[in-house]
Amino acid sequence: MAIKALVFDAYGTLFDVQSVAGVTDAAFPGHGEVITQIWRLKQLEYTWLRALMGRYEDFWTVTQESLAYTLEALGLAATPELVARIAEAYDALALYPEARAALEQLAPLRLAIFSNGSAAMLSRLVAQAGIDGLFEAVVSVDEIGVYKPDPRGYRHVETRLGLGRDEILFVSSNGFDKDPAIARLTPDAQRQELQGGGMIGPGQMFKALRMRPEQLGFDADVTIAALTDLVSYAGRENGASRG
Ligand code: LAC
Repeated sequence: MAIKALVFDAYGTLFDVQSVAGVTDAAFPGHGEVITQIWRLKQLEYTWLRALMGRYEDFWTVTQESLAYTLEALGLAATPELVARIAEAYDALALYPEARAALEQLAPLRLAIFSNGSAAMLSRLVAQAGIDGLFEAVVSVDEIGVYKPDPRGYRHVETRLGLGRDEILFVSSNGFDKDPAIARLTPDAQRQELQGGGMIGPGQMFKALRMRPEQLGFDADVTIAALTDLVSYAGRENGASRG
């Protein structure tokens, strides 16, 4: 069946979550890198914990709580106001360098975002990057109160787009993002970096934990190194029905 839509994960796939490091380092000089890595690890962990506990709160709350945890763990004092101000860095994340060109070239296909982010966070994020006009839909898990990788989330996207599973390519850099059709990973380069014999710092630890294929018994259909690789892939898969 021809592909009719590409659905992108937001944080870590289109937007570089590492780009908060400037804000975290300005707030706590010398600690930016470690804050950034623990924060992101904890942020996703809190989505899973809240899901298991049946205590859903939206991603803006989770983003602030995980930052508060991180600062407290590192012994860095912060008022709730400072936590909220630093967390706003998630509204201003940098697009990956190739993302805009890739999206523009893919635009003849239907494009959407599916993310853990709340609707308000995602709307601020895509607007500041100037890519809001490229998406037919920005779908938040908040619409149904679940977090990735709850299967209900992916079914919700299919319903929102009115498409079957085989008509959608899910693109995600998260190994846990259930059965992504396309993983935005570069396993070999990363493995070499991790096995390079150097010190494993917080950045490498993050990559080792969150930017590799999981051993959960399913693999992505395709692995790409850059979003622009999608252009030829989607065109090939879509064949004559494109355009
Ligand atoms: C998202 C996170 C999980 O955008 O990366 O959904």
